[in-house]
Amino acid sequence: MDVHVRLDGQRDLSGQIYRQLRTAIHDGLLRPGDPLPPTRELSRRLAVARNTVGVAYERLVAEGYVDSRVGSGTYVRTTGLPVPGAATADGSTGSGLRPRALWAGLSPWAGAESFGATTAAYDLRVGLPDARLFPYEAWRPLIARESRLSAAGTAGYGDPAGHPGLRAALARHLGLSRGVRTGPDDVLVTTGTQQALDLIGRVLLEPGDRVAVEEPGYPPARLAFLAQGAEITRVPVDDEGLLVDAVPPDTRAVYVTPAHQFPLGMPMSLRRRTALLRWARQHGAAVIEDDYDSEFRFGGRPVETLRSLDRDGHVIYVGSFSKVMLPSLRVGFLVAPAPLRAALRTAKYTADWHTAVPTQAALARFVDDGLLARHIRRMQHTYATRHQTLTRTLTGHFADRIELVPSAAGLHVTAFTRGRLADPHALVDLARRARASGVAVHTLAEVAADRSARPGLVFGYGSIDARDMGPGLHRVFGSDRRLDG
Ligand SMILES: Cc1ncc(COP(=O)(O)O)c(C=O)c1O
Repeated sequence: MDVHVRLDGQRDLSGQIYRQLRTAIHDGLLRPGDPLPPTRELSRRLAVARNTVGVAYERLVAEGYVDSRVGSGTYVRTTGLPVPGAATADGSTGSGLRPRALWAGLSPWAGAESFGATTAAYDLRVGLPDARLFPYEAWRPLIARESRLSAAGTAGYGDPAGHPGLRAALARHLGLSRGVRTGPDDVLVTTGTQQALDLIGRVLLEPGDRVAVEEPGYPPARLAFLAQGAEITRVPVDDEGLLVDAVPPDTRAVYVTPAHQFPLGMPMSLRRRTALLRWARQHGAAVIEDDYDSEFRFGGRPVETLRSLDRDGHVIYVGSFSKVMLPSLRVGFLVAPAPLRAALRTAKYTADWHTAVPTQAALARFVDDGLLARHIRRMQHTYATRHQTLTRTLTGHFADRIELVPSAAGLHVTAFTRGRLADPHALVDLARRARASGVAVHTLAEVAADRSARPGLVFGYGSIDARDMGPGLHRVFGSDRRLDG
């Protein structure tokens, strides 16, 4: 097909031809190996001198977009094409476009790259549910039906606050499973926890506002608040959770993971929860409660959520379907105090209008038909066995190298390392060699993106069978020959 070139006026005709062909190459309309039209033909089509086209082609050759073959023609290069917007020698881009200084300094959590598909024989990565046990048979007819309804055009666009059926189902589910008393109007459906944090940051924070986060903590949450121009203060945690006394008085919002501290795994004690709510009341601050994997508990009495302890509207509760269903569904939700709701709904609308309707509608049916509760019950049983096997293997075989952080919930446990493995370099080396021997495992510093964290390893049991844990762990520690000797 002939490439379309449109000339405007009589000025800089070569430049116009050059830019349009370059754009066609960048956009993939002209692919590597494609011929450009012969100069004679293009000049005739455009009613310009042949040399005008020739100058444009020479510039494309000079900049590495095309090769000119004598007697044959001019072709888009098959290798080493310049990258669109690539920096020139002086560091500027051709267009001069640059992100705001704030964004130039941000990048996705490096650890996130290690959460995609894996070929590891033993998958001990943190926080991933077992996709092999996802109830596809029950899910398939629901998502097929809802996709058909959307395709039939009966649905149109959805409500930014979320599918009414899902919001009602979530309100009931939260009341039953988490003691969170709320109605459908209080619930806003989001594209995962990550979007919930982004929306909260947008409506709550002025640039420069202080947000306190746990240390060690969840890097994607920090990033969401940094992207709003917030000042981040990392507040240490002890075995009861966040050290409330160490939160600076001018803090506007505190982000916590009370059910299962990320990444250490202990719950926040009732005493600390009460202290945090008192602190928020005294300082007029918001508390963002990330209840990310609380559905799975293996003993001990569940501690009440901050949201259900909150009497005067300081807590914004955030939940996710990433652990009870699949992270790739990208569905989460938040329950906010009444004064924030309208703004949050508008923020959701400006971000992406709404989360995919077929997924929300299918989830609503999944919850209403009792399928979610059944799936959670089954997985609870499976994960309890894995949690027990993992903790027993760690304490039974490797107690000389690790100190387990007590934890009875979620999908991972953390262990501080000791002896030779208390040396961060030895630990990085161990994780690297474990990966080379087919075990995907993270160090604590990797998942917390925190250089000062105590040396440790984080073991996920969402994607590994109980029977594989012993062999997997022996590979992890056995890969350090010096320790075994
Ligand atoms: C602390 C924490 N919050 C939330 C999530 C879930 O995030 P999302 O709902 O964006 O998948 C995770 C996932 O690992 C997590 O570790």
